[in-house]
Amino acid sequence: MIRLALLIPSKRVPLRLKSIEMDTVLSGIRSTGHLHLGNYFGALRNFVRMQHENRCFFFIADYHSLTTHPDPKSLHANVKDIFCEYLAAGIDPEVATIYVQSDVPETLELYLLLNMHAYMGELAKTTSFKEKARKQPENVNAGLLTYPTLMAADILQHNADKVPVGKDQEQHLELTRRFARRFNNLYEVNFFTEPKPYNFDQELIKIPGLDGSGKMGKSEGNCIFLCEEPKLIQKKVMKALTDVGPTEPNSVKPESIENLFVLLKSVSSPDTVAYFEEQWDNCSIRYGELKKQLAADIIAFTTPIRERYLDVCKNEDYLRKVAANGAEKARASAAATLREVRHIMGIRPF
Ligand code: TRP
Repeated sequence: MIRLALLIPSKRVPLRLKSIEMDTVLSGIRSTGHLHLGNYFGALRNFVRMQHENRCFFFIADYHSLTTHPDPKSLHANVKDIFCEYLAAGIDPEVATIYVQSDVPETLELYLLLNMHAYMGELAKTTSFKEKARKQPENVNAGLLTYPTLMAADILQHNADKVPVGKDQEQHLELTRRFARRFNNLYEVNFFTEPKPYNFDQELIKIPGLDGSGKMGKSEGNCIFLCEEPKLIQKKVMKALTDVGPTEPNSVKPESIENLFVLLKSVSSPDTVAYFEEQWDNCSIRYGELKKQLAADIIAFTTPIRERYLDVCKNEDYLRKVAANGAEKARASAAATLREVRHIMGIRPF
């Protein structure tokens, strides 16, 4: 059927229907391995909290991980793992939309259209591109260069207002905002929303690694995974870096010890934290005892999540259903945007 509205040239494109009372929140994670405690306390826990007050899209960015040429088998397993971990951590597929990026082909068309207004110079200037180009000089592919346009398509297709991202993604989000602005100006429309970075304010907790400095990260190899076996958690915590102990009462904690306390504060009761703080202050602290308690509390905290994860992983039928349902909702939202973008840019059927 020919849609008459599309044949009438007009600069006044109708604004997409937007929920008045709810903001749209979107976040993606690259499928590069299991989620760790840093992912959980830094992001996932807040996704779970915000899913009821916002229109949320959470997706697994499997296309984005192709830029580093992962082995196909491990990519497949990683997508499933993260999907299950999202569900196990409490993302409710009846409330939020959870989907896999490659299940939504509309994203790719928007990516192509946005690429026509993304310039080589600005893409090549991003820190992430320069870093990857340095790290993998044999594989500086076009996907790597246009990584930010794919990310912009992910975000703009759902008209997201808020995008929870870490520091390393802020530059990409700034580019998304620039692309949105450029599109609106060029075509004289008020179409794309400029998404804001969202960092949970006081809820934001940076989880450190167990190796004495810096944050927990996959590439740092200092992670405790959210669904890790209790025995392994125990082993990793007991091996965490410490020092000879405080020599003066009430001294400032060195980073490696402060890190253990940050972890303790995330998983243990206030009484436990207060007990060890006091021991630190009066120089009677025994790191062995602290680590044993920390390991036990991490295990107690993660066990229900791990059990749900193991359960969900086994239930392939359920997973397929949730993924299909999420893809359907995401496709409907993306298709509505794409229809308008095609119209604005002058792509139309005869
Ligand atoms: N680039 C992000 C990362 O590596 C993942 C991602 C892809 C993303 N698309 C997104 C994050 C859209 C937020 C919004 O972490």
